[in-house]
Amino acid sequence: MGVSNVRVDLAERSYEIAIGPGVIQQAGAALRAAGARRAVVIADSGVLSNHAITLEGALRHAGVDSFTIPVPSGESSKSAAEAGRLWEILAAAAIDRQTHLVAVGGGVVGDLAGFVAATFARGLAVWQVPTTLVAQVDSAIGGKTGINLQGGKNLVGAFWQPRGVLADIETLVTLPEREFTSGLAEVVKYGMILDAELFGWLEEHADAVHLRRPEDLAHIVRRSVELKASVVERDEHERTGLRAILNYGHTFAHAYETACGYGRLLHGEAVAIGMADAADLAVRLGRIPAELAVRQERLLEALRLPIRLPAGPLPTADELMAVMARDKKSLHGSLRFVLPDALGSVALVPDVDGSLVRHVLARQG
Ligand SMILES: NC(=O)c1ccc[n+]([C@@H]2O[C@H](COP(=O)([O-])OP(=O)(O)OC[C@H]3O[C@@H](n4cnc5c(N)ncnc54)[C@H](O)[C@@H]3O)[C@@H](O)[C@H]2O)c1
Ligand SMILES: [Zn+2]
Repeated sequence: MGVSNVRVDLAERSYEIAIGPGVIQQAGAALRAAGARRAVVIADSGVLSNHAITLEGALRHAGVDSFTIPVPSGESSKSAAEAGRLWEILAAAAIDRQTHLVAVGGGVVGDLAGFVAATFARGLAVWQVPTTLVAQVDSAIGGKTGINLQGGKNLVGAFWQPRGVLADIETLVTLPEREFTSGLAEVVKYGMILDAELFGWLEEHADAVHLRRPEDLAHIVRRSVELKASVVERDEHERTGLRAILNYGHTFAHAYETACGYGRLLHGEAVAIGMADAADLAVRLGRIPAELAVRQERLLEALRLPIRLPAGPLPTADELMAVMARDKKSLHGSLRFVLPDALGSVALVPDVDGSLVRHVLARQG
């Protein structure tokens, strides 16, 4: 199977995303071609013994001097403390502008390393080598980087585009089943917001996709990346409102993630429940027929994703409403949601009636 390249066109910040089996092997040549003499690999500790080693080998083979900094797995590494630790290591290693950072791992390491690259020495080149489905289809592309504060997720960050992305679909084979399934929620999202054909493909392959055959993985990653790139190209800094469509399902999802505490729900699981909620809200507003909401629920379930919160203590509607009112997407306290109007089409809907939102949340009880 070949490698496909998707270009993200952003004037002088343009870059290529290479997708395919074994593309990690290209890392050394890619960095050299971009003028790197040295590299610092920032690696999720969960991929140290396999994918990070492959990456280090590829760099060495191309004559790029490198060392690796392991980062503990888990959302808690997206912290100011961890960013500070990385800054100090880079400072002690006398990093200069010919040194490129390379993030290998999922969205946690990608967001953290991207943020460190954006801020250290006023900006270093960073490469993303995503090894989770979430990271390959979403977080490694588009230049959003950041860390969490006690006060909220992704509250400190920067737009900092990578120099390139190497999405090696072979790395997805070692991913735990639950993490893989969680990533499929973002693929469903792209289908719902932009691509009825992708949605139909998922319906046909809902079971088979769990076999993680290379051709299926290449298809979903490539299509997702093309769709995300097309949005980012038109609204890099989330100014026109277009990029906001990527937050379909995410207003509800963030409320669940916050209210349930990180850990009980994986991000993609929260997004799946959030998309079911958003479609329900769209039905209540008369924007879509009930059949479309049902069709989306069927696909999510066929993909083994949740559409309701798992058993356990449930957050109250008041708690969830309070979190949503604080959401970055709510403007001056009014509730805004990305809602479908047809399969493959959504819009940002302002001033949604809070009592309708409460009805949607009541489904969880
Ligand atoms: N920047 C963006 O645009 C953007 C978009 C979506 C999500 N995100 C962020 O991404 C993060 C979630 O990313 P994630 O879902 O990739 O989670 P993650 O980075 O926490 O990785 C999930 C788990 O998989 C392990 N892992 C990674 N690759 C593996 C592999 N190939 N084999 C086996 N195990 C592997 C990790 O050690 C970790 O335990 C969140 O912090 C979220 O805010 C950012
Ligand atoms: Zn997401």
